[in-house]
Amino acid sequence: MKVRTIDQLDLSGKRTLIRVDFNVPLDKAGKITDDTRIKAVLPTIRLALEKGAKTILFSHLGRPKGKAVPEMSLSPVANHLAALLGKEIPFVPECVGEAAEKAVAAMRPGDVLLLENVRFHPGEEKNDEAFGKQLAALCDVYVNDAFATAHRGHASNVAVTRFVAEKAAGLLLKNEIAYFEKALVSPARPLAAVFGGAKISGKIEAIHNVIDKVDKILIGGAMANTFLVAQGCEVGSSLYEAEMVETAGRVLADAAGRKVKLYLPVDVVVAHRLDAPSSSKAVPAQEIPAGWTAGDIGPATSLLFREALQDAKTIVWNGPLGAFEIGAFAAGTHSLMRTLSESNAITIVGGGDTDTALHKAGLISRMSYVSTGGGAFLELLEGKRLPGIVALEEG
Ligand code: 3PG
Repeated sequence: MKVRTIDQLDLSGKRTLIRVDFNVPLDKAGKITDDTRIKAVLPTIRLALEKGAKTILFSHLGRPKGKAVPEMSLSPVANHLAALLGKEIPFVPECVGEAAEKAVAAMRPGDVLLLENVRFHPGEEKNDEAFGKQLAALCDVYVNDAFATAHRGHASNVAVTRFVAEKAAGLLLKNEIAYFEKALVSPARPLAAVFGGAKISGKIEAIHNVIDKVDKILIGGAMANTFLVAQGCEVGSSLYEAEMVETAGRVLADAAGRKVKLYLPVDVVVAHRLDAPSSSKAVPAQEIPAGWTAGDIGPATSLLFREALQDAKTIVWNGPLGAFEIGAFAAGTHSLMRTLSESNAITIVGGGDTDTALHKAGLISRMSYVSTGGGAFLELLEGKRLPGIVALEEG
């Protein structure tokens, strides 16, 4: 990439402003329920410390819409991070202005502090120049390690870069890009992409973009129902997107025209109701009974997907294959996770629900790479250039 990275910089004694993504889930008591994103930036923070930087961390949390919302304060994250690093992390209840400037001025090399939620300011989401300038005034060097926010063009990852002397990507961002390139730019082949999730409309651009890059594409989840309808199947009461049936038909034709092998469910697990699946059963995908709803791929499809992925050297996966949070519809997603965890292929996974499923199954460490980005990962799959990454490019 045409982007410098933090490991190439001299940070000794420099005020180093690092944009991280600490948009973590908090429970009602303000306790962090999943700290994956915090742990993901520890290598960057540790490197900055080793290099003798004065490390200033900042992030957004939630969508406070330009106002201070106490429940969305980053203060609990400062405590959590302090425990992870074994180091005091002062929290500054502002991210720009006098309080922030004073706190930064008092820092010594090796210190780390965390600023308040950048989205408490209306200038953040507007990518406001003046706000970007205020943020830039806090630092000598700017580092972006917030991959999960890279698809947003906000002041903290775009405008700020126009006013800093030096800018670079952090180690997480560098890693995310490197793995993505392994997946779609120069993959070991055969390359297979597995798509799941409820809506084809949210994934169609990604499917369009990858179809001329992959050797195989496997589709499950409620999204597959729209493809089944395009093939002329009845899907009972299953969720499908009537307005996307034509598009799904075009994808099928496109895949056939490019000789990309496209796999759809051959059977599905159905129930009268997804939220009360007392009477679930597997049926052929062509024979979903009227009044029944598909909640998962069936066992024959799990076997088919397993076989289809046997020779893959790279597998990219986004989206669960069924309503995995309900026990009766979890088997398809579990089977895929097992297949990936036993595979010798490079396995690259992204998307919030996909991560949750892997976490629940304790299989995160069995994947080659699990992206911290949901929306950002999907936009990369769509072939988009992410504003947060473009803003780091030199010249
Ligand atoms: C995410 O959780 O996907 C990122 O932190 C971006 O958050 P946003 O969707 O609120 O911009």
